[in-house]
Amino acid sequence: MKVIETTNLAKTYRTPFRRKKVEALRGVSFAVEEGEVFGFLGPNGAGKTTTIRCLMGLCRITSGSATILGQPVPSREARQRLGFLPEQPYFYDYLTVMELLDLGGRLFGIGAAERARRAGALVDKVGLGHARGLPLKKFSKGMLQRAGLAMALVNDPDLVVLDEPMSGLDPVGRKEVRDLILELRDAGKTVFFSSHILSDVEQISDRVAIVVGGTIRDVGRPRELVGGSRLATEVVLHLTGDEAAVAAAQQAIAARAEKLRGVEGEVLAVLGAGVDVDDFLAFARGQGGKVVSVTPRHETLEDLFLRRVEAGKAERGAEAAAS
Ligand SMILES: Nc1ncnc2c1ncn2[C@@H]1O[C@H](COP(=O)(O)OP(=O)(O)OP(=O)(O)O)[C@@H](O)[C@H]1O
Ligand SMILES: [Mg+2]
Repeated sequence: MKVIETTNLAKTYRTPFRRKKVEALRGVSFAVEEGEVFGFLGPNGAGKTTTIRCLMGLCRITSGSATILGQPVPSREARQRLGFLPEQPYFYDYLTVMELLDLGGRLFGIGAAERARRAGALVDKVGLGHARGLPLKKFSKGMLQRAGLAMALVNDPDLVVLDEPMSGLDPVGRKEVRDLILELRDAGKTVFFSSHILSDVEQISDRVAIVVGGTIRDVGRPRELVGGSRLATEVVLHLTGDEAAVAAAQQAIAARAEKLRGVEGEVLAVLGAGVDVDDFLAFARGQGGKVVSVTPRHETLEDLFLRRVEAGKAERGAEAAAS
């Protein structure tokens, strides 16, 4: 079953007095399968939050369509089986996290004993056990984010939608959230989350979509998206001989490499994908170089992401010039 499906989803914001239109989404189509962790990746302003708000029924879709748990959005029925962490969760300052979760549980019609049990289990799960009695106004940014996460899980949802769940968290907190997401998947849930932290997305997502400028650029398994093509080879050489010989060798090698950098008595030569590595090594040895290491560089998700962002910028430039 497709847990989330969007077809040509478009959203245009009109600023006050309709002076300007912002095309935040320009025909977004993707599907999230049951039981997968799906990472929604894009730079600031790409349309991640807008997509999520449209899916949650929090903003009006301009054109196209979307379903959640098989129901067209907005759907009250789907809402019951859905957990949602907004980008900037807002809570009543004077409540404690236990009271907040109790309130959340009430909204889903959960009985008092079960609410208390869930609240206790959830504060421990998100690492707020020590702060049970503290009002939320005394929470740090990271603690509020954790409270928001607990709130998103209070109805034991089948689908969890998280807008930037790692934002505001330190590396330890981010790891905890990644582990929590994997735990949810192991429990059979579907997780859809947005982020611009590439490593977080890459590490835990079964599939990712890259969105730039309101358009989906790529969808797939991270490994498949970046493919296996070698971008470059990095060769570290130790150059021997007197100062003049080393300088001459460096110059000769630099002429054959794309980049050459000195690193602690050694040089790092970056060779383009088309360079014959074996030939280069023979040449470098002839210049008195000793080969320390040879490392192939493959495209990473970050390389792909940055390429897509650059292409998006160029498109915007072309659009601005045309209008
Ligand atoms: N309420 C609004 N009114 C007008 N324009 C908006 C509104 N909300 C978002 N936008 C615009 O829509 C585009 C997409 O914004 P969105 O918040 O969806 O991006 P995002 O990918 O979530 O970015 P971030 O990583 O910064 O959270 C941006 O150009 C933004 O300025
Ligand atoms: Mg956002």
